Amino acid sequence: MKNILITGGAGFIGSNFIHHILNHRSTLHITNLDDLTYSGNLDNLKDIQNLDRYHFIKGNICDPEAINCLFQKYTFDTVVHFAAESHVDRSIQNPMQFIETNVVGTANLLRNALVFWEKLEPGQKRTFRFLHVSTDEVFGSLDAGDPPFSETTPYAPNSPYAASKAASDHLVRSYYQTYHFPAIITNCSNNYGPFQFPEKLIPLIILNAIAGKPLPIYGDGRQIRDWLYVLDHCQALLEILEKGKIGETYNIGGNNQPANLDIVRQICSILDELCPESPFRPHSQLIQFVPDRPGHDRRYAMDTRKIEKEIGWQPRENLESGLMKTVKWYLDHPDWVENIQRKPDYQAWMNVNYSQRGAAKR
Ligand code: NAD
Ligand code: DAU
Repeated sequence: MKNILITGGAGFIGSNFIHHILNHRSTLHITNLDDLTYSGNLDNLKDIQNLDRYHFIKGNICDPEAINCLFQKYTFDTVVHFAAESHVDRSIQNPMQFIETNVVGTANLLRNALVFWEKLEPGQKRTFRFLHVSTDEVFGSLDAGDPPFSETTPYAPNSPYAASKAASDHLVRSYYQTYHFPAIITNCSNNYGPFQFPEKLIPLIILNAIAGKPLPIYGDGRQIRDWLYVLDHCQALLEILEKGKIGETYNIGGNNQPANLDIVRQICSILDELCPESPFRPHSQLIQFVPDRPGHDRRYAMDTRKIEKEIGWQPRENLESGLMKTVKWYLDHPDWVENIQRKPDYQAWMNVNYSQRGAAKR
């Protein structure tokens, strides 16, 4: 890998990935294509914006002209595709945006990448990689006692978000099967860590708790997710780029499966410890049950034996250490938080999503 195109690199996982590979591979050159939607944030990349090995292009993966120009202008040997609409609750409010970005955008990217790849010299063709970053949500929901999702679990997406990601996975797969396009798909569980947009459970709970606002728990709070610290995900992606087989899919997960309520209580305890002067201690008093997410998946769990065996990857962080780092990061970055919270579209989203649930405002 020398010249890598990253889509969606101004978002949560993409920006962590850029930092991670700049730190771990000293000769890589990165082009970050991002349309800076509500969750794209150049503050995530401030510290590297002037590096010679990094440059940013504002552009939309759905724009045929822009993507065509990109592949005409640069000679990439690797594409890592993060750009997407990523929030399940927003997909319930506005599914068409998810079809446009996640399905049409991925189709447009693939089409142009294929044309580019077909014109490469045989040696370059052989080493080119297109890594599509996807989610465990394509597999649907598990009941208690069901075995975890493996790479051969049939797709059964339950939200418009999950369905749009499933469609994009199918498109990537079809390009490998039909054109032998050197694609790899990863399906990862819930990430958490620095730079996560505060609409997702963990940053939302941290920030509401610091501010003494209610901590909204959907339904009974007994839903289960498999939590992975974001830099462990980034390391897995890097190793898959270097050791993974084209045409394969790899599940990535953290082997951490607390119920939502337990994870919220854990965050509250960390804040009780880190903020002994807070008037809101114990922070768990702020927990408030609110009406459930429609179609809410009950449980996710990942069988990660394939990536462990074939790639040699395992997560380094456990939930306790990862949550402590994450809470500290949000406490240490009030300016980053404020820049998001003061935006009218963030306030508007909080109202749309929570006012109908009767929470988030006191
Ligand atoms: P995010 O919402 O934080 O970031 C998405 C990024 O994509 C933003 O920078 C945004 O500006 C950009 N983007 C959106 N539409 C675009 C478009 N049309 N053209 C160009 N850029 C566009 O999301 P995230 O949590 O970082 O997720 C990144 C990827 O990883 C997604 O594909 C998501 O499905 C997948 N994923 C996320 C998780 C998770 O827990 N967050 C887990 C598994 C997989
Ligand atoms: O599983 C991987 C997926 O994880 C990614 O593909 C998605 O991009 C990412 O957003 C995430 O989806 P979830 O829906 O699992 O994440 P979210 O943080 O929105 O919610 C986590 C759990 O917490 C879920 O069961 C819903 C619940 N929840 C969420 C919010 C925002 C609450 O109880 N209250 C809330 O306010």
